[in-house]
Amino acid sequence: MGTIKDKIDRCVACVRNKTDFVPRVALVLGSGLGDLADTIEVEAVVDYTDIEGFPISTVVGHKGRYVFGYIDKTPVVIMQGRVHYYEGYSINDVVLPIRIMKALGAEVLFLTNAAGGLGDGFLCGDLMMIRDHIATFVPNPLIGPNEESLGVRFPDMSNIYDNDICKIIKDCSEKLNISLKEGTYIQFTGPSYETPAEIKMAKLLGASAVGMSTAVEAIVAKHMGMRVCGISFISNLAAGISETPLSHEEVKAAADEVAPKFQALVKMIIANL
Ligand code: HPA
Repeated sequence: MGTIKDKIDRCVACVRNKTDFVPRVALVLGSGLGDLADTIEVEAVVDYTDIEGFPISTVVGHKGRYVFGYIDKTPVVIMQGRVHYYEGYSINDVVLPIRIMKALGAEVLFLTNAAGGLGDGFLCGDLMMIRDHIATFVPNPLIGPNEESLGVRFPDMSNIYDNDICKIIKDCSEKLNISLKEGTYIQFTGPSYETPAEIKMAKLLGASAVGMSTAVEAIVAKHMGMRVCGISFISNLAAGISETPLSHEEVKAAADEVAPKFQALVKMIIANL
């Protein structure tokens, strides 16, 4: 068994066999939001199945590929489909795709996800800029020998979600007349949705949106010195707040509805980075 760095290098070599495109921004598209990748100027596509050792997502509604291209003049790599811890991969494998995008050249990581809303006044269809996160309920992806060439053993996490990018996100949402909430994202492992008691706990802890991804990705990106930002799309009200049982179909249907507004915002932000 090689090191994490060996694994990254092997995956990067597979990608480099297909394209020498160098992205500046890495964008991860969450449940139902993957269509954005179909609307950009595409330069190359690499299926995850063509990357040796790459974890393959099994979730319905998640495609599995990197799309390389331009949004405005910015070179981007888009993850159309991410990998979740609940699929059974080690937490190291879950974050491998993020580390690969950094190795390919990306300096900024833009995370998106579908999430349950629990903040005061949150409604289905809202967008929330992520200002901070709680990752205490999932394994830390930096556990294990530290790869010094990637980052330090004890990285600072006091400003993961980049203040300057948050300002750009706010400006863009105002220009597009899109109302934007902000708050803390809490990651649980899933795959079961939370109980009402767990949501009460999350609220007590200060969370406004709940999901099964994102925070661990932000941690490794920050470890590697990337600038990170994120937007949650509130696809449903969280358990106990919602009057109906939660379902993945509901999440996808809500995503389809918000997709045009969300895509316009994401593109404008990237054009301004
Ligand atoms: N909980 C966890 N993950 C989610 C939710 C939720 O309510 N909605 C979308 N992803």
